[in-house]
Amino acid sequence: MERSITAFSFALVASLASALVLRVQAQPGFISIDCGAPNSYTDYQTKIDFSTDKGLIDFGESMQISTKLINQKSWKWLKYLRNFLNGTRNCYTLKPDKGKNIMYLIRASFWYADYDYKNRTPIFDLYIDVNYWATVDNYDKVHYEIVYVAQRDDIQVCLVNIGKGVPFISALELRTLDNAIYQIESGFLRLNFRYDVGGLNSTIRYQDDVYDRIWQSWASPAWRMLDPGTSASALYNNNDEYKVPGEVLRTAQTARDANTSLIYIIMPYNETSKWIGYFHFAETQILPSGQQREFLVFTSDGQFTEMVRLEYLRPVTVVSSLVSGSQINFTFKATTNRPGYPPPIINALEIFTIQELLNVPTAQDDVKALTSTKADYTVNKDSWQGDPCVPSEFAWEGVNCSYGNPPRVISLNLSSSDLKGIISSSLSNLLELESLDLSNNQLTEAIPETLANLSKLRILNLSGNKLNGSVPKALKRRHEDKTLDLRLDNNPDLCWASSCPKKEAKNSILVPIIASVSVVFVVICVLSIGLIRRKQTIEASDRTLRLKNQPFKYGEVSRITGNFGQVIGEGGFGKVYLGTLNNGDVVAVKMLSESSKQGYKEFQAEAQLLMIVHHRNLVSLFGYCNESRHMALIYEYMANGNLRQHLSGIVKIHPTEDHSKILTWSKRLHIAIDAAQGLDYLHNGCKPPIIHRDLKTTNILLSKDFQAKIADFGLSRAFIAENDSHVSTCPAGTPGYLDPEFQSSGNLTKKSDVYSFGIVLFELITGRPPIMRSLDGSASMYILEWLIPIVESGDIQRIMDPRLQGEFDINSAWKVVEIAMSCTRSMAIERPDINHVLTELKESSGSKSSGSFEMTSLELHSDNAPVAR
Ligand SMILES: *[C@@H]1O[C@H](CO)[C@@H](O)[C@H](O)[C@H]1NC(C)=O
Ligand SMILES: *[C@@H]1O[C@H](CO)[C@@H](O)[C@H](O)[C@H]1NC(C)=O
Ligand SMILES: *[C@@H]1O[C@H](CO)[C@@H](O)[C@H](O)[C@H]1NC(C)=O
Ligand SMILES: *[C@@H]1O[C@H](CO)[C@@H](O)[C@H](O)[C@H]1NC(C)=O
Ligand SMILES: *[C@@H]1O[C@H](CO)[C@@H](O)[C@H](O)[C@H]1NC(C)=O
Ligand SMILES: *[C@@H]1O[C@H](CO)[C@@H](O)[C@H](O)[C@H]1NC(C)=O
Ligand SMILES: *[C@@H]1O[C@H](CO)[C@@H](O)[C@H](O)[C@H]1NC(C)=O
Ligand SMILES: *[C@@H]1O[C@H](CO)[C@@H](O)[C@H](O)[C@H]1NC(C)=O
Ligand SMILES: *[C@@H]1O[C@H](CO)[C@@H](O)[C@H](O)[C@H]1NC(C)=O
Ligand SMILES: *[C@@H]1O[C@H](CO)[C@@H](O)[C@H](O)[C@H]1NC(C)=O
Repeated sequence: MERSITAFSFALVASLASALVLRVQAQPGFISIDCGAPNSYTDYQTKIDFSTDKGLIDFGESMQISTKLINQKSWKWLKYLRNFLNGTRNCYTLKPDKGKNIMYLIRASFWYADYDYKNRTPIFDLYIDVNYWATVDNYDKVHYEIVYVAQRDDIQVCLVNIGKGVPFISALELRTLDNAIYQIESGFLRLNFRYDVGGLNSTIRYQDDVYDRIWQSWASPAWRMLDPGTSASALYNNNDEYKVPGEVLRTAQTARDANTSLIYIIMPYNETSKWIGYFHFAETQILPSGQQREFLVFTSDGQFTEMVRLEYLRPVTVVSSLVSGSQINFTFKATTNRPGYPPPIINALEIFTIQELLNVPTAQDDVKALTSTKADYTVNKDSWQGDPCVPSEFAWEGVNCSYGNPPRVISLNLSSSDLKGIISSSLSNLLELESLDLSNNQLTEAIPETLANLSKLRILNLSGNKLNGSVPKALKRRHEDKTLDLRLDNNPDLCWASSCPKKEAKNSILVPIIASVSVVFVVICVLSIGLIRRKQTIEASDRTLRLKNQPFKYGEVSRITGNFGQVIGEGGFGKVYLGTLNNGDVVAVKMLSESSKQGYKEFQAEAQLLMIVHHRNLVSLFGYCNESRHMALIYEYMANGNLRQHLSGIVKIHPTEDHSKILTWSKRLHIAIDAAQGLDYLHNGCKPPIIHRDLKTTNILLSKDFQAKIADFGLSRAFIAENDSHVSTCPAGTPGYLDPEFQSSGNLTKKSDVYSFGIVLFELITGRPPIMRSLDGSASMYILEWLIPIVESGDIQRIMDPRLQGEFDINSAWKVVEIAMSCTRSMAIERPDINHVLTELKESSGSKSSGSFEMTSLELHSDNAPVAR
């Protein structure tokens, strides 16, 4: 009693609500979607609020049925539909308020109605979540309905293209049921028939039926119609838990007499399928006193029997057991055949088949993680609908799963998928993940530390993004102990070191140097504190200050060089002449040819910049001249020419000196240390740092006592940011020395110089140029291609410069090879800072005597232990 009153007032509230609260307020517990419809509306017959399918599905196209057939069915929600030309599986996601473990009636409706004017009804499959529901063949059936207990908070209804035409859907409805009814042990119920026996109205549904079941009127010609005497509301008030509408129960069919049974026969296509019947009875007749309708409900083969005794206006529902067979006879037979005894009746019936849940859905945490990843990046892939792994033939593109119970996501490949923003934290919840490829997207900011939580992860590819910050320690550790194949290349702002200073305003990097002539320089370099050279350095800077105020006049330059009498070299910008200052200092004067591409302003700004930079391992700029298109840079003269000349031994720069003398290993080490010191000063001693951009052996000059100094800042630029920042400018540098990461990304960092320095080291070790040519010049090979396999085989004797004639310390040589290897790693962030290189080089020159050192940075993939180990 209480129950039916509740139901009544509930229906009243619902209808009031829909009348008052605009039309947005749908019926509680109902989801009603008119697929493909342009607008939402309230159906005038049922008063159900139908909404459009916007936001419930990513794909498909809205269509309207053929105008010729539009009046054939009056139901408005069948007039539009959505069809799916693309994708094998397309899914609607329903999110009922009550979520999982609740029983729902779900109804999908399909009316082809020649919408595509092809007059060819398509055949396709319908799935509920991961399980097969039905094959929609569009002959006479419009509604496909199930009673389903949600396994998840979301319910997915999917249409699967089976190659027999384009799937489509007209309407999709969900109704929340009380858990008490339609209970089965496993699987779900698929509706075959729901009849209002002896009904007067062709269909009865909402609002007569609070659950919006659709009762179709039906009558057996073999049975008798019963006079629908009583009022529907009387029956409704007495309703049982099934809440069959009074209008449905009011009508019934009966047998001629108590000797006659009613038999309802089902002939299943499939003998093994399981059937269940719900039979609804209500006594609508006032029987002579003392009489009561009493009959058995059973199947003739004895699978099921139950007795029914009816009281006036009290509905009763009999639920059969699960029955199967090639023919099922549901029989209704009076318990006694005494004359005058009332015959059996039947008011309504529902026949379902049981459908098993054969497929287990993917673990919910994985689904959640992938779903929020999809949302975070608005992934727009046809296949990214429904369950990610199940059924396996519809698994999401780029997702690979293990098919245990439950299935788990083990790999995710979203390479080149146009992902933007941060790395979604949801990815860290894919706990079984073994491989994650997010390469070639536009992911920004730091790598989340939580990725290291993925203990099974073996491959992590984040290359080709815009990540910044430092690589989380835990990931580095896993990379180092080789449990993780970590790819981070082409992330110019990413930093391998553990503490990376926060980057400041990014765009202003070049502004102070290029844009303005009269800049107050922001570049400040600490004075070199090399003890031996201290005096000269300070003198040099005095001179510089003087010269900065008074640049050389062209006439002065002409006089210094003896009217440009002695050419000592030729660079990219023009010729270099020998000169002598008034005080006797020998200088090299670099004239910039008029065709030089560098503009006037850049030249001046740069000249001023370079005069501030002072270090004993950098070639000093004494001054410059820029006067009516004559531009000159005046450097200190380096008597022993450039390093390349000494390694190849081809050119003699000064006729009076003997350069044929081979550089010894220890001299080479000193040159390496000198050059590293110069570079360290540019990178770490100047604020902002200066990137050389064109470090090579021809730019490392040697003084008369073979002190090395770095020259040619023609391409250098200062940097605002302290660490690992970059600028993107036009390509610069020299082939063979160019950082491969810079070549592919165009982003230049200090690590690009470190790479070039590594190549310089290899030249010192091998004596060979960075690009080795065959004698006839027809073939060439990069030095790294040649030497890496040899180094990996552990045989470094083969790469050592033969002109050393074996005179070198093997430990020291190994150490330098190691350092050079670490400098030339293809991933910029894996290369050490020049400061670190310098320390290691100093150790290597010291190791000659000690003979023991740690081989930390070399990654040799060889079992052939090098001699030193
Ligand atoms: C189907 O896919 C093609 C190619 O990917 C696309 O151009 C078209 O818009 C898609 N059609 C629909 C209805 O989604
Ligand atoms: C069913 O039909 C009867 C008689 O035609 C009518 O009075 C009644 O309103 C109808 N009920 C419904 C729910 O349509
Ligand atoms: C009959 O139903 C059973 C179980 O429901 C199923 O395994 C079998 O494939 C079906 N047979 C046919 C012919 O459909
Ligand atoms: C069902 O009833 C028909 C006749 O009404 C009978 O021929 C058939 O054998 C019955 N089937 C079973 C399984 O009892
Ligand atoms: C049913 O049949 C039996 C015997 O065949 C007969 O005695 C009885 O009167 C009948 N009952 C009715 C209600 O016709
Ligand atoms: C998925 O994983 C299995 C087993 O690890 C592998 O054999 C298969 O090639 C993978 N498929 C894809 C598409 O990566
Ligand atoms: C991811 O897919 C791309 C191309 O689609 C492929 O090149 C790459 O190897 C895949 N990544 C992994 C880890 O298999
Ligand atoms: C995941 O990683 C974070 C940070 O690295 C840590 O705080 C958290 O405890 C980890 N969670 C699990 C489940 O290991
Ligand atoms: C990312 O790196 C993994 C592991 O080395 C590799 O298998 C995969 O092919 C890479 N992805 C792409 C798109 O190159
Ligand atoms: C990383 O980049 C973001 C902008 O994409 C910026 O807000 C953040 O400060 C950067 N972090 C570091 C450490 O450079």
